[in-house]
Amino acid sequence: MPSEPNRRNFLKTSAAATTGAVVASNIARTAHAQGSDEIRMVLVGCGGRGTGATKNIMLAGGNVKLVAVADAFPKKADSCINALTRDRDIQDVVKDVKEKLDVPQEQRFTGLDAFKAAIDVDADLVVIATPPAFKPQQFEYAISRGRHVFSEKPVASDVAGCRRFMEAVAESKKKNLLVGIGLQRRHENQYKETVQRIHDGAIGDVIAMRVYWNGQGIWWKGRDQAAALMARPAGLPTGLIVEPSEMAFQCNNWYHFNWLSGDQICEQHIHNLDVGCWVKDAYPVECNGMGGREQRMEGDATKSQIFDHTFCEYTFSDGTKMFSQGRHLAGSWTHVGEYAHGSKGTADPSGSIMGANPWNFTGQRQQGHQQEQNDLIATLQRGEIYNEGEYGVKSTFTAILGREACYSAKVIKWDELWEKGKDLCPGIDSYTLDSDPPTMPGPDGKYPVPVPGQYDPFA
Ligand SMILES: NC(=O)c1ccc[n+]([C@@H]2O[C@H](COP(=O)([O-])OP(=O)(O)OC[C@H]3O[C@@H](n4cnc5c(N)ncnc54)[C@H](O)[C@@H]3O)[C@@H](O)[C@H]2O)c1
Repeated sequence: MPSEPNRRNFLKTSAAATTGAVVASNIARTAHAQGSDEIRMVLVGCGGRGTGATKNIMLAGGNVKLVAVADAFPKKADSCINALTRDRDIQDVVKDVKEKLDVPQEQRFTGLDAFKAAIDVDADLVVIATPPAFKPQQFEYAISRGRHVFSEKPVASDVAGCRRFMEAVAESKKKNLLVGIGLQRRHENQYKETVQRIHDGAIGDVIAMRVYWNGQGIWWKGRDQAAALMARPAGLPTGLIVEPSEMAFQCNNWYHFNWLSGDQICEQHIHNLDVGCWVKDAYPVECNGMGGREQRMEGDATKSQIFDHTFCEYTFSDGTKMFSQGRHLAGSWTHVGEYAHGSKGTADPSGSIMGANPWNFTGQRQQGHQQEQNDLIATLQRGEIYNEGEYGVKSTFTAILGREACYSAKVIKWDELWEKGKDLCPGIDSYTLDSDPPTMPGPDGKYPVPVPGQYDPFA
């Protein structure tokens, strides 16, 4: 392994508090990337969001060079770089696009352990945009190599992953590394100003919250799509299809497997749960939930094992409730948002307050995916850091607490789940595209589906 370059040896002098958009904690001066210094970036996970986050970083006004990429599948790595290189918005902003996105083939790594070789390339910043199950091992490795990290949410799919991620967050703080988490509402002016007003008492004591991610459905990727991503053995006649391994199929169709995505409540609804906990400035102590599958792949458990609707009643230590709805049901009411009810009024944390202190946000609304990278790059260039890792883990765990309550139809306590909750992907560090995934179909081809009342969150 290459030795750590000096420019990543951080000076531990204190820094002036950051201003504006950044939620800052554990701020420290770093010895690199100040001013116009080049920030060398590695991307792990070259799908939709990985490509999008890299574009946002390229548009953030810094001097960033993409030096290596990693993906489970070679075609994803190549198509990501091609898309970025052709992107008109990037061409408009970045002068030397070809040079900044010139990742040689030998620095495009593939396979489930490709992240290690990519992170080993001399770099400052690692962006992780893989399915949630893989993030703890990848984050841990990036921190062990002294890299700043932006990790998409959720940071894990299970309790073991949350604990592993949290330990690496502690390590990142010791090393004064920047950790950004893709809960982008925390970077948007409209949210920050409203939540600040709530914290300052605009709606009195917060007594209840409602949070929603009610959508109509998501994508599904069949075995043929995984096959198209596999490297073809030399000499195989065209027309002959390579049967993908079960692991390749699941990794490409990751949303539909609990061990990979953590189900919809973890994968998408986390955004709204995170806002609720941010508003309350606390995390729940227990959760009671219910849910099931009405429409998911027409009830075909050979295609998907996750729920398509959940309802949770979270309770905080002072008795405050947070009610959550998450669903993917075609034909249903769709709504994504959050609301806080207090003793003096009601707030929509995305920009309005009713009651004793009515108010509407009138400033410039920010687009979270861009703003979070503007903040990240500007912070690194000031030679500073911030660390969002702890709330990234706690909000992920809040979603997992809700999922376990819905799967079991029992009241689940935060502390007990943190201590005794499941490892859905034991031995993940040795997984390859040819190994059996931790969830396999039964003899009838069906994947196991949790049955409320029977599912045990601790077994
Ligand atoms: N913050 C947001 O608003 C937001 C929006 C979309 C997605 N996301 C998050 O980004 C992550 C990726 O989502 P996406 O929509 O880009 O999915 P995607 O399927 O488009 O991309 C995931 C990529 O990871 C690759 N991959 C799978 N296993 C891997 C491994 N072990 N190592 C390296 N690469 C691996 C896949 O081949 C794929 O290219 C998810 O966690 C998702 O929740 C966040």
